[in-house]
Amino acid sequence: MRKDLGAKTVLYPMPVLILAAYGENGKVDAMNAAWGGIADTDQVCICLTADHATTKSIAARRALTVSFADAAHVAEADYLGIVSGNDVPNKFERSGLHAERSPHVDAPIIKEFPLALECKLRSMDEISENTVRVIADIVNVSADESIMTDGKIDIAKLDPITLDSASHGYYRIGGRVGNAFSDGKKLIK
Ligand SMILES: Cc1cc2nc3c(=O)[nH]c(=O)nc-3n(C[C@H](O)[C@H](O)[C@H](O)COP(=O)(O)O)c2cc1C
Repeated sequence: MRKDLGAKTVLYPMPVLILAAYGENGKVDAMNAAWGGIADTDQVCICLTADHATTKSIAARRALTVSFADAAHVAEADYLGIVSGNDVPNKFERSGLHAERSPHVDAPIIKEFPLALECKLRSMDEISENTVRVIADIVNVSADESIMTDGKIDIAKLDPITLDSASHGYYRIGGRVGNAFSDGKKLIK
């Protein structure tokens, strides 16, 4: 029997995105964001609390990078989601992560995460009290060779994690089960 769970933010798999932006004096702000996804062919959409340090820096610099948390950096990714730069000014240094300037946008790339979207802020609209919807244009995708096979991003090498918001668990993405744009053809009559 099916059960109604009410209006909840349920969407599988939820990406564990790491947003990074420059704050005042070149300080790196970074946070964990799972309420995000694709908005258009070259745009991402993320729902953010307005007073996060990273949100304010994205608004000020109009740029950010979006990295994908991986299984090798679960603790670092979670740390970025439970500690605020508003309270701990050297939050990023304390995470043990390192950053370098993106050559494409005014935002830091976190070196330990091998895949990053380099983005410019398109819009930041208030959608409810203290929550904004960020739409950002993807200017460039930068991938470390270590996660590529034959010039393409290899999801098995990337080993991204997903959030289960119901149990507050981080999960690996499972193995390949089919071929997109192809397996359905056998049902075309
Ligand atoms: C798994 C996880 C997912 C999160 N997703 C979001 C999100 O989508 N939007 C948001 O505003 N905050 C989200 N947060 C909370 C922020 O990452 C957190 O408040 C962080 O401390 C903000 O850091 P800052 O103030 O240094 O920017 C998430 C936290 C965790 C642990």
